[in-house]
Order: sequence, then C-alpha cells, then structure tokens
Amino acid sequence: MTHLKPRVLRYESLPSTNTELSRLASEGAEEGVSVVADEQTAGRGRLQRAWSSPKGAGLYFSILLRPQIATNYWPLITMMAAVAVYDTLGDACRLQADIKWPNDLLSGERKICGILAEAIETPAGRAVIVGIGINLTHDAYPAEIANVATSISEATGRAVEREAILASLLRWLSHWYSLLNEPAGAESIVNAWSNRSSYAFGKLVQVSNGDEKWQGTTSGIELDGALRLSTEDGEIRLVRAGDVYSVRSR
Ligand code: BTN
Repeated sequence: MTHLKPRVLRYESLPSTNTELSRLASEGAEEGVSVVADEQTAGRGRLQRAWSSPKGAGLYFSILLRPQIATNYWPLITMMAAVAVYDTLGDACRLQADIKWPNDLLSGERKICGILAEAIETPAGRAVIVGIGINLTHDAYPAEIANVATSISEATGRAVEREAILASLLRWLSHWYSLLNEPAGAESIVNAWSNRSSYAFGKLVQVSNGDEKWQGTTSGIELDGALRLSTEDGEIRLVRAGDVYSVRSR
C-alpha cells in the first residue's frame, strides 16, 4: 500500500505553485512534496487560462505524485483529487459541494475550486503535479465572473480557516491516493467520484471540444475516467477531453 507523506513548503508569493513544484521535481523532489503560496502572480488554469490568485483569498496548493498505476488510468488522478477536495469541504467547512466532470468543484452550480494536473518528466521518472486552487473569499476571482464563481466564505457565511482546510486536504489526498494505487483503485475512485457528483448519471449536458459541440445525457464513468454520454440517436459516446456544461432540462 502506498503511504503518501506530504511535506509542505510555504511561500509568501510565487508565480505559480505548479511551476515551482515542477522545478523542485526536476531537481529530484520526492513524492508528497507540496507547495503552498499566499499569492500567485501568474496562477495557471486549464486550457491556458489564468487563475486569479490574490493574497490570502484562496488556497493555492500543489502536490507532487509519482503514481504506480498504468498511464491510461492517469486521468483518475485528477478525479481522485476532486474527491479529496469534496471530502475536505465537507469535513473542514461543512459544505456539501458537487463535482463537475472531470474535476471542478461547484457550490450552487458556481465554481469553488479548480484542479490543474500536469504530467512531467523528471530524473526519477514520470511524475504528476496536481495543482489545487480553492476560493476562500470572493476576492479570489474577478467581479466579472461572480455569476459563475463562488467561495467558501460566500457559500457557508462563515469565517474560513485556511490551515484547517489545508490539514484536511492533506489527509484526504493521502487517503484517496493510497486507495487509487491499490489493485482495485480505479473502481474505488470511479465509485467515490460517482457517489459525490450529480454529473455521473442522468444529467443533460453539452460538451464543447474545440470546434465541436454536442449534447447527451450522462450515463456513468468508464474505469479510465471517461464520461459516458447517451446521445439523442441512442448512441453512447465517450468524452475524454473538453468542457462539459449542464443544460437545463427541456
Ligand atoms: C482550472 O482551470 O480550473 C484549474 C485551476 C488550478 C489553479 C491552481 S492554484 C494552485 C496551482 N498553481 C497554479 O498555477 N494553478 C493551480
């Protein structure tokens, strides 16, 4: 059984915790080394987007993993991280979130946390940096996206304790990552993800992948993390990349 032993390095300000951890990994950092910054000056999101990261307004966190699982299961690493954040929000903040495929955490259909996983080559082999950005207060995101973003303080109406959230996150990441590396790890993560997400079954969604857009109803998750969609003409299509949006029922 893999026992993850997180070791947290703290910084006041960094361009990006993912970038700093990638540098440390290329110098031989061990699995579990984690980076937290009070602010990021060049925070990065998925699809080359910027991730607004003002001082003290978010938890800006990255952890280095060296998974033993076959690479076709690597998409489950971000889903494992989403499950860990879900449990952290429940535990540390008494907040019941939702998970949008593959790894956005939502509260009241607005985004409260984003996850950016980046695979890298290091002298000790292939590794993955899992970057997690949790909005602690509404200052974490620009006013123009306030209709699609939210924060823990906004969603709970309570003061946010960043250290308690970080401690809980480290515990849940250790728990779910250990399970992922076990022989039935893929089933464990897919089941945990599906039990926590309203997107797993019966949700009408639109998928946008480059120029292509199509709709379907979700019908479960494949063992490698792909989203199964049943389309209007009765076909099953698998989604492995792209953005998924909930569509209001007709
Ligand atoms: C997304 O687009 O939803 C993913 C956002 C990931 C943001 C986090 S904040 C900590 C880590 N460092 C980064 O530069 N990005 C990730």
